[in-house]
Amino acid sequence: MTTPLGTPLSPHATRVMLLGSGELGKEVLIALQRLGVETIAVDRYENAPGQQVAHHARTITMSDPAQLKALIEAEKPHLVVPEIEAIATPMLQELESAGVVRVIPTARAARLTMDREGIRRLAAETLGVPTSPYRFCDSLEELQAAIDAENGEGIGYPCIVKPVMSSSGKGQSKIDGPADVKKAWDYAMAGGRVSHGRVIVEGFIDFDYEITLLTVRALDAKASVQTQFCEPIGHVQVSGDYVESWQPHPMSPVALKKAQQIAKAVADDLGGQGLFGVELFVKGEEVWFSEVSPRPHDTGMVTMATQWQNEFELHARAILGLPVDTTLKSAGASAVIYGGVDATGIVFDGVADALQVHGVDIRLFGKPESFVKRRMGVALAHAPDIDTARANAKEAASRVKPRKA
Ligand SMILES: Nc1ncnc2c1ncn2[C@@H]1O[C@H](COP(=O)(O)OP(=O)(O)OP(=O)(O)O)[C@@H](O)[C@H]1O
Ligand SMILES: [Mg+2]
Repeated sequence: MTTPLGTPLSPHATRVMLLGSGELGKEVLIALQRLGVETIAVDRYENAPGQQVAHHARTITMSDPAQLKALIEAEKPHLVVPEIEAIATPMLQELESAGVVRVIPTARAARLTMDREGIRRLAAETLGVPTSPYRFCDSLEELQAAIDAENGEGIGYPCIVKPVMSSSGKGQSKIDGPADVKKAWDYAMAGGRVSHGRVIVEGFIDFDYEITLLTVRALDAKASVQTQFCEPIGHVQVSGDYVESWQPHPMSPVALKKAQQIAKAVADDLGGQGLFGVELFVKGEEVWFSEVSPRPHDTGMVTMATQWQNEFELHARAILGLPVDTTLKSAGASAVIYGGVDATGIVFDGVADALQVHGVDIRLFGKPESFVKRRMGVALAHAPDIDTARANAKEAASRVKPRKA
């Protein structure tokens, strides 16, 4: 965008609409607010975290093309910023093609990453980046056949089954042998976001570690897009859901170079401006692409403690056509604070105790409703080294005790 930034709530406002206003959207909205952007926070339920810090809050079903079109036409934002996957992305493509709105990073990127199939086929089949072996299946019989296929074509055991449309590990399970296949299929059918009966089965990669490589496409002084990288973020996933992350994760120069080449290939193909969370598996000097979010990544919350410009500020700047700085300020870590209870309007004991831990900060997202396994907050720590930071972030997170009011 080459136009100047405006004044919010005036005829010359720069208006940005976030589609999805959870904890990640909330931080993007805060970063935009700091630049005087007028913000519209959209979610499927009222008082979502981002709606609490935006100029305007709208509640619609974002997967419904008619509702999405009506809202965008009514609000006329300069930019539409998807923050979740479950959006009517073909409608975004239609509106972008008609010149009604610019979608971040592009409507095509939003469509390709809304389910696992578009992005996996693009990465592996079009761009030729290394991935786990995979097949898409529409029935239990097809799944079994994909695992068992002969002549080296079969995925074999162990493998992982995931609904084509799901995130945070929902409906995902590992299959160690024939006895687990039906269970994994049934679990995927129960856990998918939309009731498509389609799954991906992937060969299990026995990686040494996994990283998120935050990759930013932003304008330089000559107004041409440059692709830049943050330091790698290491993380631990439990049942496919992130519980802990840290930065910088040490990597060999060869593995880091490969990771950056893969991330650049994928981000540059998806195009546009903005930040991408590229998930990669690493074993020795081998690197595999897993998936990408064309937006800030949950494991990247650690950058609120570690970078001069955190991932949300990088995204906000990149989409507005401003320069970015991806340099690290300090080593650090993040640890998730789960709800621990199913209740609305919970209270948090122990926040002061948590903040006694050296170098720690806390974010509570303000979600109206808590579930046992819902992410309600995060502890952030900076420290001279990642081991200390991880220990401190986990200690602080464990001191926060959510409970029914
Ligand atoms: N082929 C694989 N081999 C080994 N581990 C895997 C494989 N696929 C996924 N995993 C593990 O499961 C985690 C979640 O998988 P994936 O990122 O595909 O799911 P997701 O539901 O999109 O998760 P999220 O939304 O949290 O990123 C990965 O970060 C990794 O730890
Ligand atoms: Mg993932």
